[in-house]
Amino acid sequence: MTARAQVAGGVFAALLTGCSGSSPADPGEIPYDRLSDYGFFVGPLSDLEPAQGVVPYRVVSPLWADFAGKARFLVLPEGGRATFDAAETWSFPSGTIVVKNFFFDVDRRDEGGKARIVETRLLVREAGEGWVPYTYVWDEDQTEAYFHAAGDRLTIAYIDAQGNDAEQEYIVPNTDECDSCHARDDRTRLLGLATPQVNFEGLLGDGTTGNQLERLADAGVFDGPLPPVQDLPRFSDPFGPDPLEARARSYLHANCSHCHRPGGDAAQAGLDFTAFDPDPLPAKLGVCKEPAAAGPGTGGREYDVVPGAPDESILVYRMESTDPEIRMPELPIRIPHAEGVALVRAWIAGLDGPGCGGP
Ligand code: HEC
Ligand code: HEC
Repeated sequence: MTARAQVAGGVFAALLTGCSGSSPADPGEIPYDRLSDYGFFVGPLSDLEPAQGVVPYRVVSPLWADFAGKARFLVLPEGGRATFDAAETWSFPSGTIVVKNFFFDVDRRDEGGKARIVETRLLVREAGEGWVPYTYVWDEDQTEAYFHAAGDRLTIAYIDAQGNDAEQEYIVPNTDECDSCHARDDRTRLLGLATPQVNFEGLLGDGTTGNQLERLADAGVFDGPLPPVQDLPRFSDPFGPDPLEARARSYLHANCSHCHRPGGDAAQAGLDFTAFDPDPLPAKLGVCKEPAAAGPGTGGREYDVVPGAPDESILVYRMESTDPEIRMPELPIRIPHAEGVALVRAWIAGLDGPGCGGP
């Protein structure tokens, strides 16, 4: 059974039981040594079949993570509800846990087939602490995942698109590193569980189709009714049918804005890749903006984004690079995301220019 198929199958259990939150986790005991101690899943752990009150969800614009698949769940404490906010993320009661599982297809020719789960990340809303990150690393047998504060380096074996045996490295961050992406203005934040990321129509976390935000509301997540979803902010599916600019903005938001926004880890670079403002100052997206620092990170190019000229744009140079000093996102390992680079290239090629004007 595959992680994804099981997530889909498990949905009905979670929805039909009405989901008022029922994680048996005892806040005083967190972090447990073993993932199974939380009681998130029923049946064999690797089926990721959610227990009652464990609500699966998807985001429209996921973070690219070197071919990893993800299965995400929201777990409210007994009787707990979230207070909705249209702008970004919502307020959650203490004891809320958000769960994100990372898995890899064993055979890349068979997407959605047999998968190996490698890591399960948690953000736990703790009284007086805000969101606290924990992570669990799965054993080879896929029977249990163990608490890991110190990070790890795993080798993932798989069959590549041509049918050959292949391997890739996978880095489990240590829990201090979670905040390089999740913290803003020194507070740990949710990144994907946010209104514009879940206000989409399509294939949902439970394997059915519909509007993800409405589905969360139906599952009893919120303490009041939602405004009509068509009036709420939404991001585009980066590889869906929306106009190119909206798709590129959504992609840059998901993959870059956790660092590149005011208060983020790379705020000093002066870029803001959030996709909230439909009509931002072009320089915030790097258009005709000179880089903050000269040096190898520019590839000898003058501006972050040169309208009409992806090959003159530092942004593209850094997304395509595999050099640890240069590549973006700035992470220990990262395989450049071919589709993401192609999308950003197409967006830059289509910007009105040409060029950034002369002296
Ligand atoms: C490279 C940046 C990055 C790092 C490092 C990172 N995350 Fe995340 N994380 C994200 C992004 C972006 C999302 C939202 C998109 C998604 O769900 O795919 C996210 C989503 C999550 C979620 C789902 C809730 C949410 O915020 O939407 C959890 C739980 C989570 N991360 C836990 C962790 C933990 C624990 C660590 C450290 C062990 C960690 N993350 C490290 C970028 C990062
Ligand atoms: C984990 C944090 C992190 C993420 C995620 C990240 N960056 Fe960066 N980025 C940085 C830091 C820190 C700098 C400044 C130091 C440097 O230039 O290397 C930077 C600098 C840059 C610069 C040079 C900007 C300037 O004007 O000086 C560009 C362009 C850039 N990043 C593009 C991107 C793109 C595109 C993405 C997403 C695909 C991305 N970054 C994701 C941390 C990050």
